[in-house]
Amino acid sequence: HRHLTGIEGLEPHEIAFLLDEAENWIAANRERGVPDKRLAGLTQINAFFENSTRTLLSFEIAGKRLGADVVNMHAAQSSVKKGETLIDTAMTLNAMRADVIVIRHMSSGAVRLIADKVDCPVLNAGDGRHEHPTQALLDALTIRRRRGTIHNQRVVICGDVLHSRVARSNILALTALAAEVRVCAPSTLMPPAIERMGVTPFTDFDAALDGADVVMMLRLQTERMSGGYVPSSREYHLRYGLTLERLARAKPDALVMHPGPMNRGVEIDSNVADHAERSAITEQVEMGVAVRMACLDVLTRRARRVEGWA
Ligand code: CP
Repeated sequence: HRHLTGIEGLEPHEIAFLLDEAENWIAANRERGVPDKRLAGLTQINAFFENSTRTLLSFEIAGKRLGADVVNMHAAQSSVKKGETLIDTAMTLNAMRADVIVIRHMSSGAVRLIADKVDCPVLNAGDGRHEHPTQALLDALTIRRRRGTIHNQRVVICGDVLHSRVARSNILALTALAAEVRVCAPSTLMPPAIERMGVTPFTDFDAALDGADVVMMLRLQTERMSGGYVPSSREYHLRYGLTLERLARAKPDALVMHPGPMNRGVEIDSNVADHAERSAITEQVEMGVAVRMACLDVLTRRARRVEGWA
């Protein structure tokens, strides 16, 4: 089976194909009518070993809109708490004959491990600081729709880049689609040798914002900072918080994005997050459902004996 464990390894035309497929679902979602139950009879298991609001709900809604039987496994209520290993959990899900498994896990590489053990397509809903591919796809779709193109768009990704799977997957997707990507973080939260990913690093947010088409803000991921330096919210906001004043350095029609969950008043001010013209944050959530419908559909095509993806 083909899996979606990351953006890494996808060709640009495959990324574009998934975005095109997602476009097909937007109108139906808006009209509250998806008549095409192409996943009817399939069982989708969402196995979430880490908290989620957006990703879990949108995978569930996506599967249900396409007619799948969707089952959610929350690690907090599962036998993981009793010491079951990840591999044993994977074998258990497999024995239940799932047709597609969606996994979120706190360890980088956990999704790949499970994908290698089961007999169905596996989709990564975020693994540690490794990848969050459907987030990058929904972000790319949002940019493509709002800006008309991704090519040559100056995208600034600002925040805790070091711990962010969202940043990694977005860097991979956006550079593959020929955006100009700038990453901005305090030096303690910047991955070493990030230039090798084809991006330009900045520690000065004001400089990074110059002429930006898109400003993507990230949360401080304190849950992954054990032992490391954690900036105070106040000092962080002072240097890296997106205020209306700072946003003025970007292009006048620049788009503001945030994958959520947001910490208002820390990385982003409320008047920016809620800005009627500039903020695309709720649209990102909407695109999330369409992108996840596309991914579930495309990845189960082989099992449904329909032609696979390009
Ligand atoms: N963007 C995102 O992954 O949000 P959740 O953690 O709520 O799923």
